[in-house]
Order: sequence, then C-alpha cells, then structure tokens
Amino acid sequence: MNDVPLDITKYGNRSYVRAVLGTQFEDMPDYVGYLERAGEKIPETAAARGTHQPDGRPLAYKYYLDPKYVPEEVEKIWKKSWQVACRGEDIPNVGDRVAYDVGPLSFLIVRATETTFKAFWNSCRHRARRLCGDEPESGDVIQCPFHAWSYSLDGKLSWVPRQEEFPNLAAGVGLRPVLCDSWGGNVFINPDLNAAPLADALGIMPQHFLDCPQEDRYTAIRIKKKVRINWKSGLEAFLEGYHVLTTHPSGMPIFGSTYTQTDCWDDGTAAVSRLITPALVPDGWVKDEVSPRLALELFCNTYGLPAPPEGRGETVADARDYAAVKTAERYFEATGVDFRDRSISYLVDMHQWFSFPAFFPWWGEGLPWWYNFTPIDNSPDECIMEIRLLQPNPVEGAPPPVARTVWIDFDEKGRDYPETGQVGYIMDEDMENMEEVHRGMKATDPLVARPILATHQEIRIKHFHEAYIRAMGIKD
Ligand code: FES
Ligand SMILES: [Fe+2]
Repeated sequence: MNDVPLDITKYGNRSYVRAVLGTQFEDMPDYVGYLERAGEKIPETAAARGTHQPDGRPLAYKYYLDPKYVPEEVEKIWKKSWQVACRGEDIPNVGDRVAYDVGPLSFLIVRATETTFKAFWNSCRHRARRLCGDEPESGDVIQCPFHAWSYSLDGKLSWVPRQEEFPNLAAGVGLRPVLCDSWGGNVFINPDLNAAPLADALGIMPQHFLDCPQEDRYTAIRIKKKVRINWKSGLEAFLEGYHVLTTHPSGMPIFGSTYTQTDCWDDGTAAVSRLITPALVPDGWVKDEVSPRLALELFCNTYGLPAPPEGRGETVADARDYAAVKTAERYFEATGVDFRDRSISYLVDMHQWFSFPAFFPWWGEGLPWWYNFTPIDNSPDECIMEIRLLQPNPVEGAPPPVARTVWIDFDEKGRDYPETGQVGYIMDEDMENMEEVHRGMKATDPLVARPILATHQEIRIKHFHEAYIRAMGIKD
C-alpha cells in the first residue's frame, strides 16, 4: 500500500502520507463492529448508538464567507444558545472572574459563592467600559477601571463616586445578568433570559458522562489558537476522522481512523454527536504494514508508557490490553485515581463528543481533550480554537492550579510553544489545512458552492449544518 520504507521510531513520522491511489476497502467495520469481531467487551456508552439521521442539506459556503450573516449569527446563535464560557477551575475562589468573548459580545463570569457562578454582560453601566479584561481578575468588588463604578459579585451597583452627580440613577441599576449554569465543571452562559434550561441543550450527553465526571478534572494544558477561518469550518475539521489519511498520517499506526464510528442525537433542541476511534488498531490504510506489536511500541513511546516486554502485543487484543493496563497503572501511581477496572475502550480510545454550537468534551482517558470555537469580533474570517487537556484530579490534596493560557497567534505554530507538547503538534497538523479551506471556499464556482459530504464519516457535519440551519431559520 505504501512504497516508502517504514522508519517509525516516534510520533511525528509522516512516511504514511500516501495510500496507493485507487485503493478502496471492501469490508470496513466501524468501531463497535471491530471490537465485536475482536471479541472485546463493548462499553455501554459505545454500544448506545445515535438515533438521529440528519436531513443532509449541506450548508452553502456563503454562510462562512459573507459578513452579512455575522450579525444574524450573533442574534440567532450567540445570543440564544447555551455555550461554554469557562471551566470552574479557571475561577477557583469566590470573587474570581474571567471574560468570555464570542464574536463582538463579551460576558463576565464570576464565582459568586463557593458553589455558584454568575454571568453578566461585560460592560459597565456608566459608559460601557469592558469590565473584565483578557486576564483573570479577583476580589469581592467588581470595579470599573475608568471611573470606579463598583459592583458587588451579584452585579448590584454598590458605589458611584460623586453620586450627587447622578440624581436620576434608577434604583436597582446594576450589571445586566445572563443565564449561567454548569455541567461537568464547565460553566455555560446563555444571554437569552427566557431560554430553556441548560440540560435541554445538552440532551443525552450528560448521561454518557456519568462514569467520566468532567467536574473531577483540572486543566493541565490550555491553548487559544487564532485561526484565519470561519468558526464553523474550523470546528467541522474536528467532526470527522476522514482527514486523518492525509492530515495525520503519523497517527495512523496507532489510531484506526478508518474504523471511526459516528453517532448523532437530536430531539429538536439538543444537537449532540459523537465520534469514536480505536487506539492500538492500525488504521485500515496501513494495517498490512504495521503489526500490532509495532503499534504498541509506538503507542507506548508516544504516551510515555513502559516499553512492552518481549512477546507482548503480538495481537491487537493483547496490544490493547497491555496499553490499557499500563495507562491505568500510571494514573494510579501518579494521582491515586483508580481506573484499573475500566474498559480498554475507556482507557485508550478516542471518544469525542460535540454539543451545538461549538463545544467538544471528550470521554475517557484515551485523549482527555476539550475544545471550543468562538468567532473573533464581526469577522467571518477569523476564529479562536480553545484546546484544553483535562486530567483527573489527584485523590489526595488540591488539584494543580489551572494551566496558564498559551496564546498562539495567527501565524504561529503550536510547536513554537514546547509546553503544549503533543497537543500543539497535532493541532499544527490540523491547522495546516484551515486557511486553505477558507481560501478555497472563496475560490469555488458559485454554481456549486456547497460541500459534498460522506454518508457516515461526515454525518456529524451534516448534523451540524442541520442544527445551524434550524437556529438561523435558513430556507435555501
Ligand atoms: S465606564 Fe465604568 S465607571 Fe465609567
Ligand atoms: Fe485532526
């Protein structure tokens, strides 16, 4: 399948870049199908298959390019949706606060009590100065840096210098609230005060995370990457594994993207989907060239697990078993958290969830990531991808403080910031296509300015389009 001699000693080798032109598969099982054939126990969450079939109307490129749709998105999506604004550990103490910016909007999220959060439009009632800046702030008074109007943590105006100058100040003037709630340690806001509860927007997802509580985790790595792409095509690049063949060839020996399973759920309100890709299963494109033993060696090297002894990893089943056991042992030794009775799937595979409009929580320990996408100002051409690595809180003692945010500017790369580790490296691979996708959309013949989407591998993009079209009330 590949003429390039194999020389894979570490993650990052790109010699798998070409499958033989014209190659097709005759019988490609999906994730559950693969595990069934291998006789492995299927975790309940993976066995519960999606119930929604999107209608498949692809979204026209004009919605990614034309600035006239940006204000409409602000009104119909960002002012109407539950959206993740931060993590609880970002504001660990009462009075801690951060800004959450989405498009031209900005909100202030504050820990109002030990266990509750509040959120407000991030704008002073005097002359509108943005109250919370780009860096986290703290203290029991929210004081505007312009003229010192001061607010308590529940948003009430508590002090106006020279109050006699404001004889007509109405009683009850204060910060304007938005809805705020949390799930799994994630703090969500919704500017629509009449919105249905957060639980309605998350749909079936929280049920699947009951055995992987996101509130028991802390942010070990945090990246905000600015990208010249519309926020929608940015996130769409993460809704499928079809791009692995050419975008992440270096991952193919250890992740079986061709076996990726996709599932969608939709009850008319919550649009939720999931992708599962197995680890330690060489990708269909390289399965004839990469033995389970080699996949295991690469996996252990990539994840810093002890190298497998002679005789281990001769079969996929044994390779997965070895990697899972060592992963659980490593967590136990490092944190005291005991995952030793968890399924192999929980410990090593990729289980990535998506909740409309732009939030990606991950289930399990295989890749415990967290993504979120937000547009920048009123530009259809720029967005921020936020990436976190969430690690389980140690059993003893306080979790480590939240990682400093690594800002990566438009023309910078993750690999310029060694603290981002492999997350930064993989992000770079994904980003390589982004700007060219955006330029390519502009270069499309207007007569065919919509994507052609795969039945299964890109079904989550179809679902995202359906949810977007619904939210925007699009007719064409
Ligand atoms: S704008 Fe905030 S005190 Fe004047
Ligand atoms: Fe990717």
